[in-house]
Amino acid sequence: MAIVLTISNNKGGVGKSQFTVQTAAGLARRGSRVLVIDMDPQANATRRLGVEWDPAAPILTMSEVIKADAEGAGEQAVIACGWVDEDGTPTSEAELIDVLPARFDLINRESESGVLGAVRRLKKALDGWVDDYDFVLIDTRPDLGHLVQMAMAAAHYVIIPTEPGYDGVEAAIRVSDFVSQHAVDLANPTLQIGGVVVTRRKATAEKDFQLAGLADRFGELVWNLAGPTEVRGVEIITPKHIPEWSRFDEADAAAVSLSAWNDKRGRETVAIYDQVARRITERVAG
Ligand SMILES: Nc1ncnc2c1ncn2[C@@H]1O[C@H](COP(=O)(O)OP(=O)(O)OP(=O)(O)O)[C@@H](O)[C@H]1O
Ligand SMILES: [Mg+2]
Repeated sequence: MAIVLTISNNKGGVGKSQFTVQTAAGLARRGSRVLVIDMDPQANATRRLGVEWDPAAPILTMSEVIKADAEGAGEQAVIACGWVDEDGTPTSEAELIDVLPARFDLINRESESGVLGAVRRLKKALDGWVDDYDFVLIDTRPDLGHLVQMAMAAAHYVIIPTEPGYDGVEAAIRVSDFVSQHAVDLANPTLQIGGVVVTRRKATAEKDFQLAGLADRFGELVWNLAGPTEVRGVEIITPKHIPEWSRFDEADAAAVSLSAWNDKRGRETVAIYDQVARRITERVAG
């Protein structure tokens, strides 16, 4: 059975799409088959996974999938991750990652929220074929509106990436409260928070203060990613939280996996997402 994780935070720019894309890569490095669903009309995850819109060869995207309102409708829109090696062949990670891509027009589905059963349309679109994957990761917008609700209705777990700042922490709490209060309304009463992942961590007194508040509120749900991990034969001790490092930004800009680099920082960043993937495999899905 595929484990479906919705990545959500009610604050923008906290690293949701970065987390979604690089977690897909981390899970693929462990040999898992991963489907990434882009439920954000910004389509950042789509682009970062190397899927480009070509007007000469239009592809189906999530707007059409949701509009179809049909069982299994997502299958026909699946496309392979576009990451390639220097010689143009798909990378070993890309071979295990598929994408349900988005475009800006996905926002047009938002106005259909009042239609009977609309919140279950994404779940319906996945019915019957998605168990070909080990994991499904759904990237969402920084709100709690209809597109995010569809993603929550289709998921087993919500993962909340957050930067350790006041507004990010408050937004993470809003997501958690929303899940407790509305899982039943989303026809998904067993939905639970799978974890709170600290991203963009900088070593400042204010961030430490916010981290302490996050731990008070979420306890064990705040993932501790620290530990020894081997990357390309080199042992790396990972930090507890995902730091603010320019390499993450560079990977997103270049639309590549962190494993595209084989330097020290490349191995350090890969090690962090290997820890994320291990945590998901062993302690969220396990
Ligand atoms: N740990 C990090 N260190 C440095 N830069 C990061 C880190 N995580 C994310 N970024 C960068 O911060 C920016 C915002 O990240 P991202 O787009 O993943 O956030 P988001 O939560 O998906 O935003 P949105 O709410 O707009 O969807 C991007 O440029 C990304 O590359
Ligand atoms: Mg995003």
